[in-house]
Amino acid sequence: MRIAVMGTGMVGRAVAGRLAELGHEVMVGTRDAAATMASTEPDRMGNPPFSVWVRDHPAVKLGSFAEAAEHGAVVVNATNGNVSVAALEAAGAVNLAGKVLLDISNPLDFSQGGTLFVKDTDSLGEQIQRAFPDARVVKSLNTMNSALMLNPGRLAGGDHSVFVCGDDADAKATVTELLRQAGWRDILDLGDLAAARGVEMLMPAWLRIWQALGGSGHTMFNWKVIR
Ligand SMILES: NC(=O)c1ccc[n+]([C@@H]2O[C@H](COP(=O)([O-])OP(=O)(O)OC[C@H]3O[C@@H](n4cnc5c(N)ncnc54)[C@H](OP(=O)(O)O)[C@@H]3O)[C@@H](O)[C@H]2O)c1
Repeated sequence: MRIAVMGTGMVGRAVAGRLAELGHEVMVGTRDAAATMASTEPDRMGNPPFSVWVRDHPAVKLGSFAEAAEHGAVVVNATNGNVSVAALEAAGAVNLAGKVLLDISNPLDFSQGGTLFVKDTDSLGEQIQRAFPDARVVKSLNTMNSALMLNPGRLAGGDHSVFVCGDDADAKATVTELLRQAGWRDILDLGDLAAARGVEMLMPAWLRIWQALGGSGHTMFNWKVIR
């Protein structure tokens, strides 16, 4: 499948690399492809620049947000939540129309200590859906570290949970199939996109759990719904 991954950060790389490994045709979207390739600076987490990462992932293409969105039958939003709507505007509503838009972003404001800039009665997933009414938004994978998103087997033999929600049943089925292909077994459908409020609001708790486990490198944990 042709898949666009909007975002060159940890999430964009983890998702793009794994989707390519699974046999998909992946193009990553960025603001300025030439600038992204020219950058020699490590990212804010100290990871090597994108140009170094892509050398080890030669099947992954890089383009502008618009070029990538045009390429993808499925578009993954892995941009910073504070600017996701702007990044998707740069991708172009016309390039998102009718497409599955898998939204992994979180509305975290780290300038305010990791608070949420939208919550309770609205969510970033819903804001994106309202901004791009012709896209079919599915919220998923935002509740865990990027290393686990499409590699659930790296933790507890894959015995943990991932949530999906969205207003379009076919779009959710497409995302669910991708999740299964990546190895997920416990995929919990939470219903319509209003459920994005709840899964985004898990993030302040996720951050406190992460700190309690030691912070920094202690990110390999996840939610497990035991019934
Ligand atoms: N890190 C995790 O493990 C994790 C886990 C769950 C969910 N998430 C969510 O996933 C998303 C991506 O997180 P991340 O840590 O990989 O990366 P990030 O640093 O939050 O975002 C990187 C991306 O945002 C784009 N961006 C930054 N400023 C922009 C602007 N002004 N206009 C347009 N685009 C802009 C960057 O574009 P350029 O490529 O042009 O630089 C880059 O592609 C976030 O919403 C985060 O909350 C992250």
